[in-house]
Amino acid sequence: MFRLKPSSSSSSYPSSFIIVRLFVVLILFIFIFNFYLNIRLSSQQDYFHVSHPHLQVPQVSEQKLWEAPFGDGLHSCINPTSKYQAFEGVDHYITVRSNGGLNQMRTGIADMVAVSRMMNATLVIPELDKRSFWQDKSLFSDIFDENYFIDSLKRDVRVVKKLPPEVVSVPRVRKHFTSWGSLGYYEEMTKLWDEYKVIHVAKSDSRLANNDLPLDIQRLRCRALYQSLRFSPSIETLGKKLVERLRSRSGRYISLHLRYEKDMLAFSGCTYGLSDAESEELRLLREHTSHWKIKNINSTEQRISGLCPLTPKEVGIFLQALGYPQSTVVYVAAGEIYGGKLHLSELTSRFPNVLFKEMIATEEELRMYSNHASQTAALDYIISLESDVFIPTHSGNMARAVEGHRRFLGHRKTITPERKGLVEIFDKLESGQIEEGLSLQHLVQHLHQKRQGGPRKREGAPDGIKGRARFRAEESFYQNPYPECICPSKPTHT
Ligand SMILES: *[C@@H]1O[C@H](CO)[C@@H](O)[C@H](O)[C@H]1NC(C)=O
Ligand SMILES: *[C@@H]1O[C@H](CO)[C@@H](O)[C@H](O)[C@H]1NC(C)=O
Repeated sequence: MFRLKPSSSSSSYPSSFIIVRLFVVLILFIFIFNFYLNIRLSSQQDYFHVSHPHLQVPQVSEQKLWEAPFGDGLHSCINPTSKYQAFEGVDHYITVRSNGGLNQMRTGIADMVAVSRMMNATLVIPELDKRSFWQDKSLFSDIFDENYFIDSLKRDVRVVKKLPPEVVSVPRVRKHFTSWGSLGYYEEMTKLWDEYKVIHVAKSDSRLANNDLPLDIQRLRCRALYQSLRFSPSIETLGKKLVERLRSRSGRYISLHLRYEKDMLAFSGCTYGLSDAESEELRLLREHTSHWKIKNINSTEQRISGLCPLTPKEVGIFLQALGYPQSTVVYVAAGEIYGGKLHLSELTSRFPNVLFKEMIATEEELRMYSNHASQTAALDYIISLESDVFIPTHSGNMARAVEGHRRFLGHRKTITPERKGLVEIFDKLESGQIEEGLSLQHLVQHLHQKRQGGPRKREGAPDGIKGRARFRAEESFYQNPYPECICPSKPTHT
């Protein structure tokens, strides 16, 4: 009943049929192999090749993306005025325990240099914080170039490594200096010398006012922070090496201070986009960390007030809307990202060249820094300072310190996200009111036109804030040392 086709075609038909089948098998094989390769790549190298719909948006010029804002002929100026007198060694000592993470300690130490000068005291090399969240046991000399610190401040303040033996056992007064102290306050404090030879300062952060201090004191703060307090040679050397490696990738890179770390999220109560289990984990951490005073936080309110760090996903949308191409090298200056790969993939899907220090340094190079959060933070500081563009996702101590230092070095480009405005935009994206593309670019770029780190004088407290609360609301001295340490015309030598 069933017969094969006549033999006339039987010789050609099966052979072309086989070719087609072979072809299909081959295609299938290539497809599967590719798929397998992709999965291996993404799991091995921490990045994913998810393609996003090609967005029809005009290219932003290289210049606009990378170049420093117009510097207006400004330059740094830190030399003392002609009235400044060399320091005369006095037999009074200030010992201090610096508190906080690396950048809080650095600015605090620079302030203590200025306080020692104002109080005519000899500064004993500060003790670093070993009890903060980061639990780092590093000594001053592990992080900073101690001898250089002492030597470079010779004209300003006497700094010694230890209390001399003859004063070690004399009674000392333990003092909590007021926050945002003025020159008048510290002159008043010199009365303590009538009774004591040694003042122990319990903490160093925010002990000195941002404004209304003598020019020479402000410049001393700049000299202390930007010159004297340089990192130890081993940190400097590795930091520079890593900067070179980043540059060798494609010449330019963004340093992203992705403050999407567990402590930050727990502290700020920002749980947007996280699972219930993750939110609960963060809440418990906050509850159990005794020095975090605010326990009940409404995450929604924090976020719409612009108080939350951007999420990895938001950063991806943000960078793309600013016009950075997918190939941009983005260095993540941060510790461990909360939720690891899971949350990061929402950034790496848009920017596959997201790099961590583990990807640009060898294990050997990083070994001595493990368990020393302040030393790894120092590497991030160097890489962020030297980056073409610095973008902090949250306004913390590191963000402020790096921004200020970049201003000081010639207004290097720092893009500060306007988080409140961005959240409104992200929410519109989420609800479909706007789409990614041209209009999003316009919105985001417009919002950040004047947030690129260009020159401007330090801001005072917003109107309406009264009393001592004004001090806290002022822009920090180290976030923008203009006008005291950034000047318009060529310096006249002193
Ligand atoms: C500090 O010492 C100098 C000279 O030794 C003196 O003129 C000045 O009044 C002293 N300042 C204070 C605040 O004691
Ligand atoms: C948090 O704040 C939002 C906005 O103000 C509000 O709608 C929400 O009910 C609050 N949530 C809680 C748990 O209080």
